[in-house]
Amino acid sequence: MRLTDEEQAMFAGDRGPAKAKAMDLLVRYGEALGAERLIETNNVAGAFNASTPSVSSLVKKGFDAVYSELNLDSAEIVEIPRMAVNTCQLITGIDNENWKLQGISEELVQQQKAGEAFFGQRGINMFATCTPYQVGNVPIKGEHCAWMESSAVVYCNSVLGARTNTEGKESTGAAALTGRIPYWGYHLDENRRGTHRVEVGCDLGDIMEWGLLGYWLGELVQEDVPVITGNVRQPSLIELKHFGAAAASSGGVEMYHIAGVTPEAPTLEAAFGGNRVHETLHYGPAERRLAYEHLNCASERAVDFVMLGCPHNAIEQVWLIASLLEGKTISANTQLWVHTPRAIREVADRNGYTKMITDAGGFVMSDTCPAISRHVPAGTHTVATDSAKQAHYLPAITGLPVWFGSVRDCVDAAITGKWNGQLS
Ligand code: F3S
Repeated sequence: MRLTDEEQAMFAGDRGPAKAKAMDLLVRYGEALGAERLIETNNVAGAFNASTPSVSSLVKKGFDAVYSELNLDSAEIVEIPRMAVNTCQLITGIDNENWKLQGISEELVQQQKAGEAFFGQRGINMFATCTPYQVGNVPIKGEHCAWMESSAVVYCNSVLGARTNTEGKESTGAAALTGRIPYWGYHLDENRRGTHRVEVGCDLGDIMEWGLLGYWLGELVQEDVPVITGNVRQPSLIELKHFGAAAASSGGVEMYHIAGVTPEAPTLEAAFGGNRVHETLHYGPAERRLAYEHLNCASERAVDFVMLGCPHNAIEQVWLIASLLEGKTISANTQLWVHTPRAIREVADRNGYTKMITDAGGFVMSDTCPAISRHVPAGTHTVATDSAKQAHYLPAITGLPVWFGSVRDCVDAAITGKWNGQLS
């Protein structure tokens, strides 16, 4: 791998032991991928906080040790300096306020808070959300980033036109210290061009419809780059957030184009950039139903846990849920958790939306989600969610059956304690 003079200096230890470890990791990682060089980045979104049970024992050794072992792949403990570039913490396993509801121990909460203080002092912004683009980290078109979290990565590449691969804890840890990441994959123009044409023949009226489309096409294209065309009106941030999260769950989609909508697809031709179209896929009522049936694996109509906010909810979504709950009471047999970034929860608190939800018997959660924390309310037998991603992962993670539907279906399930949703 070719290194610049500054990269050589970091590699040689001239900028301190932590940067040397980080450069060593990046060079090994890049060479394994066939990258010829590194690219500068000023935008890292990763997982730095030692907050999960699997790392709690390391916390006792000290956070430098945690960072050295888990983030820099090094048994040798090095002192961790300030991050070199703009860096944020993605989602964690614990809601710092609602941890009792999650069934998490106070000891673990204190470890998380100590970790946040340590990493915060080193310049890591504790956004604690899988949607950093909703709370202020919005890279511009063409910007090279180092992001983790599949739903954030596909949004970053496709909707914002910034450039990232799906990085890991180790590579984002090293990127934060050096401002470098291997130059391969979606950093390169040739890998961002469309491969599959997807003709949409159904109305894409809400997030459920976008989730169904994403889930269906992700399974078919896997890690390729679909180009969506046909019956597509101007989508919203929320719809694209759900669409990308679904496509990245059933497949490994990290980049897509919507002709005439997303920034690298002013036209259908531009989206393919000269690439041969590998396959043309048609999405109609039969494909829509297939996706819906795949996502609905529950059979028991009684619902005891409703999860909304995967990816984390925008403020409009919190408002919609609050409005649907106004004057209603959640079933005594059901819990409703509404997940949103902490920064958005602050707005929801000020606006009174949180109170509207809690008055009905629900909870507004931040910083985490059940798929990451692996905590659902005790005694849960059946889950309902408006998220194709959560419906995909929760059965595998918790063994629980899931109903998938619209926000209205889910709020209705929370109020009645029963699933009444169906595909129109
Ligand atoms: Fe976010 Fe958890 Fe969903 S990390 S995308 S809310 S699975």
